[in-house]
Amino acid sequence: MEIIKVANAEEGGKKAFELIKTGMDNGAKTLGLATGSTPVTLYKEMTESDLDFSEMTSLNLDEYVGLGGNDAQSYRHFMNEQLFTKKPFKETFVPNGKAEDLAAECKHYEEIIDAHPIDIQILGIGQNGHIGFNEPGTPLDSLTHVVELTESTINANKRYFDKVEDVPTRAVSMGIGSILKGKKMILMAYGEAKADAIKGMIDGPVSVDLPASALQNHPDVVVIVDDAAASKL
Ligand code: F6R
Repeated sequence: MEIIKVANAEEGGKKAFELIKTGMDNGAKTLGLATGSTPVTLYKEMTESDLDFSEMTSLNLDEYVGLGGNDAQSYRHFMNEQLFTKKPFKETFVPNGKAEDLAAECKHYEEIIDAHPIDIQILGIGQNGHIGFNEPGTPLDSLTHVVELTESTINANKRYFDKVEDVPTRAVSMGIGSILKGKKMILMAYGEAKADAIKGMIDGPVSVDLPASALQNHPDVVVIVDDAAASKL
């Protein structure tokens, strides 16, 4: 793993943007994207750049079960707002949280991943070490699946909802195995709340107890962290 320390999220967004730009210069056509607060500065760099994404394909990591593009808290809505309406892509994929047959949707999404191999995967990390919505205990070779969200994740995400009861309890998420299929990983983390997860991911054993530790088995991982997130390394 290559570790890049930055002063703050703004500088981290710039660094990740440079890596994407270099990747695109070298032929990258498909980006794996994340939601949440972490990638916001990266998406700002992307939307404010003159880089053309109209030949690019994107695949998002996850979506809440029960929410679709018209729901303000859905990840599809977040991506449209943060990036896609400002920087058109050729094709953008987000799991369909409103699919009637969720098992079929998971299988279908994994087929999409295989048909559009991810060149650069953007990741954030949960305080409990989750990547995507792969909570502790998720098999490290898991493919796209339906996840029961843990209380810690529901609490961390309630800031986007009126009340905690409104936070969906399930999500469709790319599995850890699906994520690791990508050619290059860029994981960003900012703030003290991420320090334990970053320490475990880099220095701890590879274990289902900390899903992001699986990245130790990937040959090309760049970790972009501020001082607070790196404080326990
Ligand atoms: C979101 C996702 C999650 C987040 C993680 C960190 O698509 O996959 O793993 O990256 O929960 O969230 P933030 O960035 O809000 O701290």
